[in-house]
Amino acid sequence: TGLAGCTFLPEDFSGVEANNKDTVTVPENYNWHVVSMWGDPLWSNSLPFDPVTRGTAESQLLAVGDNNDGMVLFEIDEKLVLASNNEYVNRSIIYGNRASKKPETADDVLKGMAGHGVTIAEIRETDGKWGIVKDSPYNRRITANTPMDISGPARGHDMMKTAADPDGATALGTWNNCGSGRTPWGTYLTCEENFNGYFSSSDENYTPSDALKRYGVGNKDWGYAWASVDERFDISKNPNEPNRFGYVVEIDPENPDSVPKKRTALGRFKHENAELVVAANGHVVVYLGDDERGEFLYRFVSAEKYREGDENRDLLDAGTLFVARFSDDGTGKWIPLTPETTGMTTQAEISILTRQAASAVGATTMDRPEWVAVNPIRGEAYVALTNNKNRGKKPNAGGNPASVNGPNPRAENLYGQIVRWRPVNNDHTADEFNWDLFVVAGNPTVHNDAYGGSENVNIGNMFNSPDGLSFDDSGYLWIQTDGNYTDEGDFAGMGNNQMLIGDPLTGEIKRFMVGPKECEITGMAWSPDRSTVFVGIQHPGEKGNSHFPEGGQSVPRSAIIAVSRKDGTAIS
Ligand code: FEO
Ligand code: CA
Ligand code: CA
Ligand code: CA
Repeated sequence: TGLAGCTFLPEDFSGVEANNKDTVTVPENYNWHVVSMWGDPLWSNSLPFDPVTRGTAESQLLAVGDNNDGMVLFEIDEKLVLASNNEYVNRSIIYGNRASKKPETADDVLKGMAGHGVTIAEIRETDGKWGIVKDSPYNRRITANTPMDISGPARGHDMMKTAADPDGATALGTWNNCGSGRTPWGTYLTCEENFNGYFSSSDENYTPSDALKRYGVGNKDWGYAWASVDERFDISKNPNEPNRFGYVVEIDPENPDSVPKKRTALGRFKHENAELVVAANGHVVVYLGDDERGEFLYRFVSAEKYREGDENRDLLDAGTLFVARFSDDGTGKWIPLTPETTGMTTQAEISILTRQAASAVGATTMDRPEWVAVNPIRGEAYVALTNNKNRGKKPNAGGNPASVNGPNPRAENLYGQIVRWRPVNNDHTADEFNWDLFVVAGNPTVHNDAYGGSENVNIGNMFNSPDGLSFDDSGYLWIQTDGNYTDEGDFAGMGNNQMLIGDPLTGEIKRFMVGPKECEITGMAWSPDRSTVFVGIQHPGEKGNSHFPEGGQSVPRSAIIAVSRKDGTAIS
């Protein structure tokens, strides 16, 4: 078994057992160590992490952000530069306000804003340990206040204009970036997900528009209090500000002064990642999931072709956005979102109100699309559908049906599944595909029906809530989970969140790693020689029960770790 020319799976390691330890567990013949943590200094004038105050807005601006998620490693002038998202901040941890668990001062709020965004840092291996190179010219923090160009169809549209930006051309900041992506021209794609949770209304009687409600924007934020320091987060005063978030942002890691670009042609929704592939005919295809119950799976196809050796500066600004419609017979179609198909007047409107456009064409409601990954050696793509308690019970916010369907086969889906599709003729720009279920997660020790999972799930590899997905160069699928870690009831025997490896040819799945308490595993990148895989440990101790990674009574901190074989050879 295993793929030709690679003995990695399953011969190389014994599957790791599920556990509840407050540490990382890797196979016996592997090692791991911490590369960076939330609050680590990026420059020599940064303050060291202060475990009592947990820093200030000023120190956070010069340090690694919180809650690392998607990441990409770039080779630039023989240096290694790691770009990683800082999705959100752990509100019960970052402010150091252990009683209220809320921001209590303006500086707390500003520290939270500075903890969001993206961290770009040069990393280097010294004496077998990877770490950040302080003062590297590539080091950069992008936060909730960094100016960004609004690019593509939505630029300058009336819905994008605000009092502070009457041209609708420059947005401040990016936040809640979950997954990521990379382009073959050397840029980083970071994806705005739950952007809605940062807006609020000073007028409690304010009625948000239906368009805002479709994206979950309401009169109360999720506890970040950003409107207390900046009126643009007050929707009763700036109702268009939320329209400027929910995009894929392109960043050039080689030029720390470059202005990030919001690529509105890729649509506005709660983006998970952006999986980019150059199709055989030269057009660029980007697969995109909208992570909310009953929302959709998307595809962008560029109008122009990829030009090798060129900056491809505006390639992601023009093209067609499609949404997936699955049939229960194992076939599917990509439906273009155009004024003709959606009834909307312009492509700009479709770029801003993408969910509404997709609802109008009757796209298939999905069980929360998380990461999409394209197999580099076979014409197929995979999407993690993490879970959906509303399946069979409650339509999505656009009124599209909740009923059980082919790729979402279980009501009240608490475990999730991974769907795979193969475009016809191996052509990622083709409008038709065939799909199947790679794995249906479940617990065979608790259930003997569909909730026990598909045949490739067993007591030795069971998991719930697949989220991060990515392929290695050998064509193995790495699966990261963000699920229920109670280890009880329906989840008994699954332990902490974990990372597994799947073989697309045999369907076999093996557990490679278990994370510490109350974390999710998310984001990964490879060293150029493939001997090290960098993995994200996000929000350990989010409920107060971890001291990862430093142990003792230390403050739990999200971290990026390096995993390698003890013999130092290439992993895959
Ligand atoms: Fe931030 Fe969909 O996970
Ligand atoms: Ca997360
Ligand atoms: Ca995720
Ligand atoms: Ca998730």
